[in-house]
Amino acid sequence: MPLRIATSLAAAVALLPLAIAQSPQWGQCGGQTWTGPTTCVTGSTCVYQNPYYSQCLPSGSGTTSSAVASAALPTGTSTAKSNTVAKTLGGKLYFGSATDNPELSDATYVAKLGDNTLFGQITPGNSMKWDSTEPSRGVFTFTNGDTVTSLAKKNGQLIRGHTCVWYNQLAGWVTSGNFNASTLTSILQTHCSTLVSHWAGQIYSWDVVNEPFNDDGTVRSFVFSLAGGTVPNLNYITTALVAARAADPKAKLYINDYNIDSAGAKSTAMQNLVKSLKAAGTPIDGIGIQGHLIVGQVPSKAALIANYQAFTALGVEIAITELDIRMTLPETPALRAQQQTDYNTVVSACKAVTGCVGVTIWDYTDKYSWVPGVFSGQGAALPWDNNLVIKPAYDGIIAGFTN
Ligand SMILES: *[C@@H]1O[C@H](CO)[C@@H](O)[C@H](O)[C@H]1NC(C)=O
Repeated sequence: MPLRIATSLAAAVALLPLAIAQSPQWGQCGGQTWTGPTTCVTGSTCVYQNPYYSQCLPSGSGTTSSAVASAALPTGTSTAKSNTVAKTLGGKLYFGSATDNPELSDATYVAKLGDNTLFGQITPGNSMKWDSTEPSRGVFTFTNGDTVTSLAKKNGQLIRGHTCVWYNQLAGWVTSGNFNASTLTSILQTHCSTLVSHWAGQIYSWDVVNEPFNDDGTVRSFVFSLAGGTVPNLNYITTALVAARAADPKAKLYINDYNIDSAGAKSTAMQNLVKSLKAAGTPIDGIGIQGHLIVGQVPSKAALIANYQAFTALGVEIAITELDIRMTLPETPALRAQQQTDYNTVVSACKAVTGCVGVTIWDYTDKYSWVPGVFSGQGAALPWDNNLVIKPAYDGIIAGFTN
């Protein structure tokens, strides 16, 4: 689900506050592409939190938001290392993090990202997507993806490739080209083949297809699912998987989606897709369960396990690929405690299922989370705070792999 900020979802979310002249206390008042009010109601001051988010905080409560936060909020206490524990006690291949090229200029951030006792796997958040890699037809740019893969390799970390085909962050030339079905198939083959070939031998797993379903389990409608018709279909998925397998026979090939954490129409649709791909002999190795969740609304451990096992019973592995657990700001000690429980629930459910190979968080620090830029008034979704200090959520992760 993570999008660059200038997307239709962000635009839709940002439309809401347009009619309001001033943001309320605790409301958003700035950030990249923020189009709402930049002044706060009397008694509040607009305080910068990160490039995507500024917030109206009570006036006189401190010079920075982190000064306010760190005085009142509990931090993590565990000294164990998340990737080490995931492998040794959790029996997993990795605990990992997404990252993105802009934050690689932050040396403190990079030092922690590169610590392979904390993170054994890296996912490039944006730099392998279509708009970044084939911005014009046949013109491929791999520079930013190379930067992330080089860093991961230098630090002895696995890499998850992300992604060959997604309805979002597609290059404009694809969607507006009025191509017929056979040309679209060829465009997709060329894109996946070239992308996966470029990093062949370096990638643990590829999210070949991202987010093929709507939340009700129907097939998402976009240029590739509509190729040659008016009813969305899943034929493009076979094209992409076959091209990816040929380009890098050793990479595990995944389909990745959100809201498939527990049983429901979308999870059922994904399981049916796996069954039909397997029946047709199409290569499919894994399902990525993104895990963009909300504090206090995480399914029970039993519900997660039952759903994870429904996938692994079909002969695919699974991974938690984009975990973050967001809350309505501001953070409180109670919300941090609930978030610790929620991270523990997801990680311990993955531990309990043999075919769940690893857990990836969608960046590790709130400083670079996508959440505040897309979900107005929400954030603090990650186990490290804005100052790269561990939160109780980190202890929840460690306990989840340990117990
Ligand atoms: C599809 O478009 C291509 C390129 O314009 C053309 O060569 C081809 O004949 C078309 N195929 C069909 C079935 O219309």
